[in-house]
Amino acid sequence: MRLPKLRVARLEPRYPIIQGGMGVRISTAPLAAAVANAGGIGTLSAAEYHNKDRKSPKTDVVRDRTIGRPYLYAPQMAEEIRRARSMTDGIVGVNIMYAITDFYDLVMTSVDAGIDFIVTGAGFSRDIYGMVREFEVPVISICDQPGLAKIAERLGAAAIVVEGKEAGGHLGTDKPTREVLPRVVDAVSIPVIAAGGIWSGEDMEGMFRLGASGVQMATRFVCTHECEVSSKFKQAYLDCGQEDIAIIKSPVGMPGRAIRNSFVDRVEGGERLKFKCPFLCLKTCRAKEANYCIAEALINAYQGKVEEGIVFAGENAYRCDRIVSVQEVFDELLAHFELG
Ligand SMILES: Cc1cc2nc3c(=O)[nH]c(=O)nc-3n(C[C@H](O)[C@H](O)[C@H](O)COP(=O)(O)O)c2cc1C
Repeated sequence: MRLPKLRVARLEPRYPIIQGGMGVRISTAPLAAAVANAGGIGTLSAAEYHNKDRKSPKTDVVRDRTIGRPYLYAPQMAEEIRRARSMTDGIVGVNIMYAITDFYDLVMTSVDAGIDFIVTGAGFSRDIYGMVREFEVPVISICDQPGLAKIAERLGAAAIVVEGKEAGGHLGTDKPTREVLPRVVDAVSIPVIAAGGIWSGEDMEGMFRLGASGVQMATRFVCTHECEVSSKFKQAYLDCGQEDIAIIKSPVGMPGRAIRNSFVDRVEGGERLKFKCPFLCLKTCRAKEANYCIAEALINAYQGKVEEGIVFAGENAYRCDRIVSVQEVFDELLAHFELG
């Protein structure tokens, strides 16, 4: 099969491969930049780059233009975007979940810092298309329902990501990618990108045959040299078996896919952990009823305290058997296709 061309608004990567955003601080600048340098599209994650000090003065300037609604600048987000920019001339976007309390601040900060596109899911923002329109930053919406995908297209989405249940992190559906993808492909005329459970060139071909214009992969990129997450997090991927990858209940009110460990067993067993919630970081978090803090659990995991945290992973994590370079992943995926 010849590798199809992906075009998202004015963005045309050499290959139709997007590295999915991974929070907290798993897909940081070196990984996103390496994917962009290999000819794909890299994605940072905005999770935990929000403003803890919500009392700072707001600004109403974005790329030297004054906008109607002031926002709180998120300096760490801007810095991460600049770091990625310094490592690549390729395409780098940011995943900003609608569920993040400081969604608007992170969107405007990212636009100001010169991001190439924004991808958003975990809830549906009707406003984001209007927020960024004058800056011509394409918005990619993550949705698995044809009706919602149509609305996103009408409001101005440049592409849709359809993420099936095989994915890592918080999940929006219990249906496999190959089931939800064709329905969304039929509903819209913008590019549709398949995500969830894609590991090989063969898997990619299967998605292209179902109408996908591109693929988004995340789990496959965790065990790479360029992924900055703690080596203990990567080791959890290398050590796990298929039976260790489970769906857990997250305090944000959505299921999530993670590698089972002692922390998961404790919190799934109902143990209540002491935690403070100084700033509600997710709009949907039921912090008062929650038996643990998801942000803290994800921060612990990326820092390497994996037995005190949650290691999010897609269904395929057990297939990671060594640490490779991003270029090696690309070489293996592309070997399946006729190029040109
Ligand atoms: C460790 C990890 C963290 C993730 N974090 C996020 C996130 O913060 N926001 C989001 O929208 N998707 C997140 N995802 C989903 C990915 O962006 C991607 O769409 C999905 O995992 C693709 O499936 P795959 O992992 O089977 O390739 C995460 C996935 C993983 C594996």
